[in-house]
Amino acid sequence: MKILLTGAAGFIGHHTAIRFLERGDSVVGLDNLNDYYQVSLKQDRLTIAEAHPEFRFIRMDVGTPDLFEAIGHSIEDVDVIVHLAAQAGVRYSMQNPYAYVHSNVMGQVSILELAARLPKRPPVVYASSSSVYGLGEKIPFCEDARADKPISVYAATKRACEMLAHVYEGTHGIRSTGMRFFTVYGRYGRPDMAPWMFTNAILQGEPISVFNNGEMLRDFTHVSDIVSGVVGAVDRAMDLTLPLEPVYNLGNNKPVKLADFIEAIEKAAGRAAIKEFKPKPPGDVTVTYANIDLAQRDLGFAPQTTIEAGMADFVEWFRGYNQR
Ligand SMILES: NC(=O)c1ccc[n+]([C@@H]2O[C@H](COP(=O)([O-])OP(=O)(O)OC[C@H]3O[C@@H](n4cnc5c(N)ncnc54)[C@H](O)[C@@H]3O)[C@@H](O)[C@H]2O)c1
Repeated sequence: MKILLTGAAGFIGHHTAIRFLERGDSVVGLDNLNDYYQVSLKQDRLTIAEAHPEFRFIRMDVGTPDLFEAIGHSIEDVDVIVHLAAQAGVRYSMQNPYAYVHSNVMGQVSILELAARLPKRPPVVYASSSSVYGLGEKIPFCEDARADKPISVYAATKRACEMLAHVYEGTHGIRSTGMRFFTVYGRYGRPDMAPWMFTNAILQGEPISVFNNGEMLRDFTHVSDIVSGVVGAVDRAMDLTLPLEPVYNLGNNKPVKLADFIEAIEKAAGRAAIKEFKPKPPGDVTVTYANIDLAQRDLGFAPQTTIEAGMADFVEWFRGYNQR
């Protein structure tokens, strides 16, 4: 199977590319390698993927209005699109909302238009986010919640992506599903997220900012489990005999207190954190907790990684990566 994978130089995109390549699929990776965080990390991820003969890379902005004109000729035989490219990060969306509208909303329209014009009219499996649930939804979060009260620009653009996918299913017959990822972590993770920032600070003996007295619950989900969910979604999307839900929660289903998450890092690092307590930043939700019944039923999704094992693996990788 030939996959167009956007965001291939990103954290989740990298792991997804490797999993598909290792099972024998062919991957065309697309990314604009923007400098939201260090480009060298994106290049390091790409170097690993580029060691596989079945990987090819296109540097391109998904917000380009006519992607088919731009790259259609070189990807005519694509069977499925996995669309993970996005401007990620809740907090940065308060500073630069335009980047989110461009990459996330414009990007989703461009990808759906591309799918509609490609000869095989490939299904689109795309990244959404737990942040679409906002505040006040029943916990654990279920896919049938209204999710119409987002509290960040990031969340609003992700919800818009879901609605656009719904539109293109109706107007253009493009089969699609959105994966609502819950706080993903693991090797080659994102430097703007707590696992990286806390590990870095604890190893350097620097203070960490603990929001809301550590009274936040996050359904931390290891990237290897997330990728299994993505692969499950792609395989189901490719089997036209099977119904596909419009969205699936992909979360660990075991929320962890921020304080316990910090303890897992302290244990793995062998050092105590210096904690600075701060109020909850605007846009952050206090709890994320996924109901994963639908993903279990349709995608065979069954997360395996505990926070202790996952963070121990991350800290080991982090030490090696930053000592090169
Ligand atoms: N990591 C998480 O915890 C998490 C949680 C929920 C949802 N998500 C979603 O999962 C997807 C992958 O996230 P990630 O954590 O790997 O983030 P990431 O930032 O590491 O990866 C995103 C990649 O997309 C690329 N990109 C951004 N804008 C682009 C554009 N306009 N054109 C082409 N490429 C562009 C970036 O260069 C980057 O390599 C995103 O859609 C994100 O919103 C992630």
